[in-house]
Amino acid sequence: MKYFLYFGLFVCLSLVSSCQKKTGSFRPGMLFPDTDGVHINAHGGGILSHNGKYYWFGEHKIAGKLGNSAQVGVSCYSSDDLYNWKNEGIALAVSEDSTHDIARGCVLERPKVIYNAKNNNYVMWFHLERKGNSYSSALTGVAVADKPEGPYRFIRSFRPDAGAWPVNVSDFHKRTDNRTKEAFSGGDLPEPIDSGMMNLIGRDFEKGQMSRDMNLFVDDDGRAYLVHASEENSTLHISELTDDYTDTRGHYVRLFPGRFMEAPALFKRDGKYYLIMSGCTGWAPNEARSAVADSLFGEWRELGNPCVGEDADLTFHSQSTYVLPVDGKEDCFIFMADRWVPENPIDGRYVWLPLTFEGEKPVLRWTDEWSY
Ligand code: DGJ
Repeated sequence: MKYFLYFGLFVCLSLVSSCQKKTGSFRPGMLFPDTDGVHINAHGGGILSHNGKYYWFGEHKIAGKLGNSAQVGVSCYSSDDLYNWKNEGIALAVSEDSTHDIARGCVLERPKVIYNAKNNNYVMWFHLERKGNSYSSALTGVAVADKPEGPYRFIRSFRPDAGAWPVNVSDFHKRTDNRTKEAFSGGDLPEPIDSGMMNLIGRDFEKGQMSRDMNLFVDDDGRAYLVHASEENSTLHISELTDDYTDTRGHYVRLFPGRFMEAPALFKRDGKYYLIMSGCTGWAPNEARSAVADSLFGEWRELGNPCVGEDADLTFHSQSTYVLPVDGKEDCFIFMADRWVPENPIDGRYVWLPLTFEGEKPVLRWTDEWSY
């Protein structure tokens, strides 16, 4: 009996120590244990790299279909090496007040955090759908904190760029009715398809533009941008943020009209700007897309699917969420994506792959295990 107990103790201790064992590689699509041995719960996430440390923010999910709405809030994990992540707890908690913008049961997706040097604080943006509104609110939410891991204080939710026209506005858009192109006589018709041929920019001019899947990007000059799916998801917008990073300033551009891009991940390499995006098929994976531009507000050129090999047409069963340039490593980028499990969202997996380049084209190849 005594030996039995000793043996049991030995097994438990080895399990604990194996859970806490440091790792030095990524295993895309497998369980991704934190330093407590628990699968990381930070979906649709992004990384803040700050003062030599990485902070991973993402959607906290619970088990069962209820987990497709926000029941807890935004998680934060920290790491020195990107392989081993410590759970820092809930950075932004949902509210128990059912009338609050971020009431428990709202949809709070794709949180991202950037550091604002001017105010020495941390600013979180996310896609918000108010409780009970399904996906019709199309809002963006903003919260701030004094420490990277939080707690974050919710400021407000809103539709970006109210009362402003995009820099590439056309005569067709520059009217505040939602007349169809067929009904519009005269002026330019800039693109063949525009979400049912509706003037959504004009329709939403006063209350602000719709905002769903999103990301943040800080350029070398410190200016920050929100890239988001707008106009009923038909068209991406890049919106410049105010100096404190808590608002948009009415300076924005429309990209890929009528292409229905979601999950945008924006990054810079060798002075060029890149986007990796998905198509628009709910939680189901689809073929990724990529694009390049010499300037954020300039001409964007599509470069096609960056994935190569088996299941490339399904982005290896995942959807983009972020592209991370690894600190101190030249030309080293990590493509981060989600393998959603809408029947049991807490079991969603992470697909992190090395992002390489062939000429100017981003390339993603599957690998079972890798290190940077
Ligand atoms: C795809 C988006 O990329 C996700 O963030 C989420 O909004 C789902 N659609 C919901 O169906």
